[in-house]
Amino acid sequence: MFHSAGRPPKVGVSSISIAREREAEEPSPAVSLTVRGLTVRFGGITALDDVSLAIEPGEVLGVIGPNGAGKTTLFNVICGFIAPQSGTLEWKGQVLTGVRTDRLARLGIARTLQGTGLFAGLTVLENVMVGAERFRRPAGFLPAMLGLPRSDRDERALAARARAALRELGCEELATRLPATLPYAVQKRIALARALVAEPELLLLDEPAGGLGAPELGELGARIRALRGSMAVMLVEHRMDLVMSVCDRVVVLDFGRVIAHGDPAHVGRDERVLEAYLGREAERGSPGDRPGAAR
Ligand SMILES: Nc1ncnc2c1ncn2[C@@H]1O[C@H](COP(=O)(O)OP(=O)(O)OP(=O)(O)O)[C@@H](O)[C@H]1O
Ligand SMILES: [Mg+2]
Repeated sequence: MFHSAGRPPKVGVSSISIAREREAEEPSPAVSLTVRGLTVRFGGITALDDVSLAIEPGEVLGVIGPNGAGKTTLFNVICGFIAPQSGTLEWKGQVLTGVRTDRLARLGIARTLQGTGLFAGLTVLENVMVGAERFRRPAGFLPAMLGLPRSDRDERALAARARAALRELGCEELATRLPATLPYAVQKRIALARALVAEPELLLLDEPAGGLGAPELGELGARIRALRGSMAVMLVEHRMDLVMSVCDRVVVLDFGRVIAHGDPAHVGRDERVLEAYLGREAERGSPGDRPGAAR
């Protein structure tokens, strides 16, 4: 277990309604996600085993590890897709209980999924507008009761935000296209636009480089580096070249446990990390002895 320095002090609130988070954030404490003692089991598999880490404001934190190490499970717990058997999440010094995926954006957390996660039946613009929903003004009681359509002004405002996000990523001219008609790498960029349009304080990326070629990888690296300082980023990734070039710190998972953490160069030399990646099982005992192995 490790705790990073500079974590904001706990404010003594044990449980909060996510809907109240934004209202409660003035004056805004430092952005920081702290994960403590997360354990997730799927039947006999321990996907996460007492995982603790912290993400500091403006930093790019890499989460790496071999296939099945628990990276996506960690990501899914933070997103609220999976409820852990034990452990806590703290966001800006307040404990989160029962994170709801549909409320994440209002918390200031956005994500891209392993794959693209785009809606096949929506245009590129509509997909990105989904990411901008948190900026929609709440409908008045009467219009909602009467089932009146959302105001055109609201729709135009969301569309303008979505277009700006697409422009930022060089995809504005693709607004009317359906995702499936576009190359995979472009779909990944649109998924990133959908996350960024929410103006998150924490961006969670699950294998954003998956399926990308070398030039696109370089471009993605430059984009992530440009985000540094303006938001915290948790980058779950296999591509070590990307991780090494953009991350301030790296956490390494293996069989659900944190086996190393620190700056990328340090982690890249760590014996346990090399073993995990090279799969030197023989030197580590039988797989049944390993944490997280099927029991
Ligand atoms: N829904 C599930 N049901 C059962 N087992 C699961 C489930 N999700 C994950 N697992 C198991 O939990 C472990 C961790 O999986 P996870 O997907 O988190 O790994 P990962 O590090 O993201 O791997 P990859 O690099 O292949 O994406 C694996 O053993 C996996 O088979
Ligand atoms: Mg994964």
